[in-house]
Amino acid sequence: MTAISTAVPARTGAFDVDRIRADFPILDLEVNGKPLVFLDNAASSQMPQPVIDRIARYQSAEHANIHRAVHYLSEKATAEYEAARRKAQAFINAGEEREVIITTGTTDGINLVAHGYGRKFFGEGDEIILTTLEHHSNIVPWQMVAGEKGAKIRVAPINDNGEVLLEEYRKLFTKNTKFVAITHVSNALGTINPVKEMIALAHQHGVPVLVDGAQAAPHMGVDVQDLDCDFYAFSGHKLCGPTGIGILYGKAALLEKMQPFKGGGDMILSVTFEKTTYNTIPHKFEAGTPPIMAAIALGAAIDYLNGVGIDTIAAHETDLLDYATQEVNRTPGVRIIGTAERKAAVLSFAVEGVHPHDVGTLLNDEGVAIRTGHHCAQPVMQRFKVPATCRASFAFYNTMAEVDALVSAIRKVQKIFN
Ligand SMILES: Cc1ncc(COP(=O)(O)O)c(C=O)c1O
Repeated sequence: MTAISTAVPARTGAFDVDRIRADFPILDLEVNGKPLVFLDNAASSQMPQPVIDRIARYQSAEHANIHRAVHYLSEKATAEYEAARRKAQAFINAGEEREVIITTGTTDGINLVAHGYGRKFFGEGDEIILTTLEHHSNIVPWQMVAGEKGAKIRVAPINDNGEVLLEEYRKLFTKNTKFVAITHVSNALGTINPVKEMIALAHQHGVPVLVDGAQAAPHMGVDVQDLDCDFYAFSGHKLCGPTGIGILYGKAALLEKMQPFKGGGDMILSVTFEKTTYNTIPHKFEAGTPPIMAAIALGAAIDYLNGVGIDTIAAHETDLLDYATQEVNRTPGVRIIGTAERKAAVLSFAVEGVHPHDVGTLLNDEGVAIRTGHHCAQPVMQRFKVPATCRASFAFYNTMAEVDALVSAIRKVQKIFN
């Protein structure tokens, strides 16, 4: 993180957060008689009017099932669905359109790789490397496949700041290492992993790498070719799109070698009772009727984010995080959990003597929405010996005044409990 000053940081360049907020109708809500301060963006971010409008337009003038008919609506829906794929391709700079699979979310994408790649290529005694920072979605699918194939999970540990110990990661590689699956940004702590370096290391051992980009794609520019990752998964609902949609990038050569995870619908070229010939990628991995409306809305969300500018988003969120870190650090009795050098828009903390759920409930009374719990990252909680944390997570539409509201609500909680 950048050095912390004692003053409210200046606004980033010409970024006009009020103009941005006007695009998000939900931000005008009042909760418990107070203006909503929405700081649960790592769970799901909010949707701007152009994305809401895009959904309405699709439903009222474009809806039909895709890829299977010659009538106007089906062709229109197909064209828009495929256009969304190209928008996602450009968003992460994937080399080819066929390397972009439309999924229902990060979890779905990771399961696709765990089952599609792991079931085919893992065997007895093989090893899969994860890190302590992983979300359950990047642990459980690997455990399921490892259990089935007799493979083992090995875990790269983290230090007290919540950073992966690269030396320990390096030492985990053996001749049995078959796969690495790592998060780009920790949802529980905000740590930004040095994934490019970690990928390069895995590749020195000839091991493919999946990056869980659920918390990175909304907050920083992602270039899968520059990272040289083999797979990259993210979700639409964390980047101003709807739920039930996500993207899995995979290098074409690997996708070609993998078996499909789900069968039926568009993933076939021909079927007899004796044999099925699979479709070409990416369709081989898109079984059944896909989330057409959600994919098109994700395309609109990507357009929206591009319009704001991903670098502008990252810069404003860094200002928010730095200011929030400064103010929370100035509040005795509040401890930040996760103090990595490089962090994205997540502030996890504990209030001395108050259970996180009580903090969350009392903050809600003030209109402040944070998340409390284990954040689907129980190994991180175990590492820091806490059952749960309070987590404020920022988006580009949040303001410095909302950080003030958070901190003043925390101080109110402390007063109630002291
Ligand atoms: C780092 C990380 N990975 C995976 C996921 C799972 O995403 P989804 O529920 O959209 O599949 C999340 C969601 O919080 C996450 O933060």
